[in-house]
Amino acid sequence: MDRINRRDFTITLAGSLGLLAPASRLPFLKTSRAQQKYTSVRRNVYCLNSYSPEIIAYKKAVEVMRARPTTDPTSWQAQANIHGAFSPDAAHGIVNVCPPATAANFVAPPGMIASVCRHDNFFLAWHRMYLYYFERIVRAASGDPSFALPYWGYSPTGPHNLPALFRTPNTTANPLWTDQRDPLINAGNDIAPPSNVDATNALSKSDFFTFQSTLSGVPHGAVHIATGDGCGWMSAFDTAGMDPIFWLHHANIDRLWDDWIAMGGGRVNPTSNTAWMSQSFSFYDETGATVSLRVDQILDAAAQLNYRYAPPTICPTRYRCFCIPLRPWLLDTLLIARIDSIVHRPPLPGPYLAAQLPEPTSLRTIAREIRLPLSAETRRRVSALPHDSQAGASFKLVLEDIRLVQRPGVAYEIYVNLPAGTKDTVYTSPHYIGTLDFFGSARPGAEPLRREFDLVHPFVRLQQMQRWQPDTIRITFVPRALVQGRSVGKALGQRPQATIGRMSVVIQ
Ligand code: C2O
Repeated sequence: MDRINRRDFTITLAGSLGLLAPASRLPFLKTSRAQQKYTSVRRNVYCLNSYSPEIIAYKKAVEVMRARPTTDPTSWQAQANIHGAFSPDAAHGIVNVCPPATAANFVAPPGMIASVCRHDNFFLAWHRMYLYYFERIVRAASGDPSFALPYWGYSPTGPHNLPALFRTPNTTANPLWTDQRDPLINAGNDIAPPSNVDATNALSKSDFFTFQSTLSGVPHGAVHIATGDGCGWMSAFDTAGMDPIFWLHHANIDRLWDDWIAMGGGRVNPTSNTAWMSQSFSFYDETGATVSLRVDQILDAAAQLNYRYAPPTICPTRYRCFCIPLRPWLLDTLLIARIDSIVHRPPLPGPYLAAQLPEPTSLRTIAREIRLPLSAETRRRVSALPHDSQAGASFKLVLEDIRLVQRPGVAYEIYVNLPAGTKDTVYTSPHYIGTLDFFGSARPGAEPLRREFDLVHPFVRLQQMQRWQPDTIRITFVPRALVQGRSVGKALGQRPQATIGRMSVVIQ
């Protein structure tokens, strides 16, 4: 009787003080509330400080997990290895870290889940599951069952440097710090240029897979490379998960998926794609057991995984945290998305190759324009695009066989049909189609990369502005250094950054 009374009193007290702590922090409330679902809230790291419970818990967990042996599935290294690890193969030799280190430290023990990250059609789903189990492991390792992973809420109009908690103090005394980053990033310089932290272009896409692949480039890949400087942990699949900021970066990407759905206008998950919906992936839970989730079990984070994101605008202090810059052409895009969503689309025909540059192009320190002349048949198909019932179909630039010549130090903003004589380009221009980043197998000589850029939306808005030239597609690559305070020339030197083996424009 006594016990019950005390418990009731605690509930009342906690309630009247405005929820001092979430229920899960008060162990004696657990049984009585077992049936109630507690939705945890992932907050913007820019709104947190070193006294925030999730920061205290995260630091503790990083230390605890780093001390565990790699053979322990809940260790820091084992968790990073799930994303990418070196196979014990002499050909790899050197890990692309700064300074280079031998691969031995990064090899996954045999039989463990390793190197299974997905950056294809399962990019968002796989990383959502990965974070979900990681968050549970952090809860257990930190002893804080209410831990919610913060997100790195960078945006062009708000802060977009590495959060201070991850660089002060800038010594190993700070578990969130590592020297495996660009020194300027660790000094607090902004990620540059603003296009690399802007999700507007991705969010404007109404088709899920187009949205996903655009987001995978910017801000996702660009922020990876900017943080890692092409050789630090964040620069490559094999090492990215070792940097504590990785998980917050991915929480932000995961949040943008929720934001995209919330924008409506035809933005929906591809739930009729049964192969996609039924795909499952394996991870480790906080007990070290192998567990798996199917894509259809994670699409509604709040309902299925019990978490949601605090909007960045609720950030209470000095920062203007977030704002999608309103551009006139974004409105057109939204309109198109709405029209698309109510049109029944017949099955798509095979891809039509509208133009191709078969010889390799190299990308250097100066802007480069490529001209792709269009045949009469192509012109006809292009002009039919927005009025056609298949307008939701794809019209895209495909870059294949992209090979790095040196470790990535720049990204290239890509513009279509820039007016002749354009001196300066700003990515808020309607001619901007996306940014070529080099996140992936970031070692020169590694697997070539492939990137796609949507042309439907740029085409429609340029046509409406009467800026689309029907006979030629001109693609301009503009190099940008990734960190404020560094020039393209300093980042690249005389050698090219990369070569693009094949460039095509495809209509489907
Ligand atoms: Cu799987 Cu951000 O990488």
